[in-house]
Amino acid sequence: MRGREVAFFPKPAAGSWTENHPELGTGLVDFTDSTDPEFYEAEREAIFKKTWLNVGRVERVPKVGSYFTKELAVAETSLVIVRGQDNKIRAFHNVCRHRGNKLVWNEAPGEETSGSCRQFVCKYHAWRYDLTGNLTFVQQEGEFFDLDKSDYGLKEVACDVWEGFIFVNFDPQEPLREYLGDLAKGVEGYPFHEMTEVYTYRAEVGSNWKLFIDAFAEFYHAPILHHKQAVKDEAEKFQGFGFEALHYEISTPHSMISSWGGMAPPKDPMMVKPIERALRSGLFGPWDRPDIEGLDPLPPAINPARHHSWGTDSFEFFPNFTILFWAPGWYLTYHYWPTAVDRHIFEANLYFVPAKSARERLAQELGAVTFKEYALQDGNTLEATQTMLNSGVIKEFPLCDQELLLRHLHKTVQNLVKEYRDAAAR
Ligand code: FES
Repeated sequence: MRGREVAFFPKPAAGSWTENHPELGTGLVDFTDSTDPEFYEAEREAIFKKTWLNVGRVERVPKVGSYFTKELAVAETSLVIVRGQDNKIRAFHNVCRHRGNKLVWNEAPGEETSGSCRQFVCKYHAWRYDLTGNLTFVQQEGEFFDLDKSDYGLKEVACDVWEGFIFVNFDPQEPLREYLGDLAKGVEGYPFHEMTEVYTYRAEVGSNWKLFIDAFAEFYHAPILHHKQAVKDEAEKFQGFGFEALHYEISTPHSMISSWGGMAPPKDPMMVKPIERALRSGLFGPWDRPDIEGLDPLPPAINPARHHSWGTDSFEFFPNFTILFWAPGWYLTYHYWPTAVDRHIFEANLYFVPAKSARERLAQELGAVTFKEYALQDGNTLEATQTMLNSGVIKEFPLCDQELLLRHLHKTVQNLVKEYRDAAAR
């Protein structure tokens, strides 16, 4: 099944989805980009220190002085993100200019923290910084030698906001909106700001960061890996006919996949589990759509095929930020933060319009715990995959048409690392 033609993203005129991207080819894909420690080191420099990285949402810094820290092992730093007196959100390296102490932390220096303050005070010798990063106070300043405080402000990192999402960049090559391009433009206007009820999951996964994106960027696996989550009849239907997405879109370096989702709400209530019937919720979230502006009609890039059975769209903003939109009117985000070539921290945040009743709250909770079961199943497979990729017995793998976005992700990463290595060799 293919989506009908619409203005925003026309479907390919002919051929498979992959054949419409000749630059990606149809050959085997090399997965040593997920096992080679030297490749990982190059990836950190070529990608994570040069692209816009989403570190959270504006709701985390609601008022002047609100801040949170972000540990970024992949860039070997910690950042503090803070809303200043002028209401602008800024990002700074979380390091004191006196002798390098980590400036903001709570119980343990490696753990992220958040809060609100009028200034930052270093725990070591009490140097103080205001909310715009200026050094404002030096303990026993007269003991120093020609110290000009204006030379010792916090080190700032480029920071910008798109639709309430806060991005940072250590070495911007282009402005944020230009970087995010048409895919992002096409979802602008979605009521992100209304969905402030957040459920968060975080786990360290024993796999390369790309392998988890791979797992969420295709639905080829869904009828097999997750069949036990569906009721028996539904699972057999999936396995019998396989699965095919409604639409794929590539706007390098970003991409999206659009899929149907027949159970939200189900045409036949008997096709879901009793608790889902009772709470009117499940993997696809609460069945009752919130009554807010921005969901009808949806922005043009969401459900581009305008398919009546549409269920979810997954936007992959390169390198490690995913937004999933769900038909019943909520969204979730994934982040994949590398900590080693074969490890990463996976973060999932589910965003709902705040519940107005206990029943609505229970429906959201069921959606959140059901999601966790699926994510655990995916995570489990990833670690098994990584161990065998590490063996090096097989390095290249065939990908099908439904795995187009994986082909694109690995190609994009490999191209950027090659460009970086070529430039370094010159
Ligand atoms: Fe921060 Fe000394 S290291 S005040």
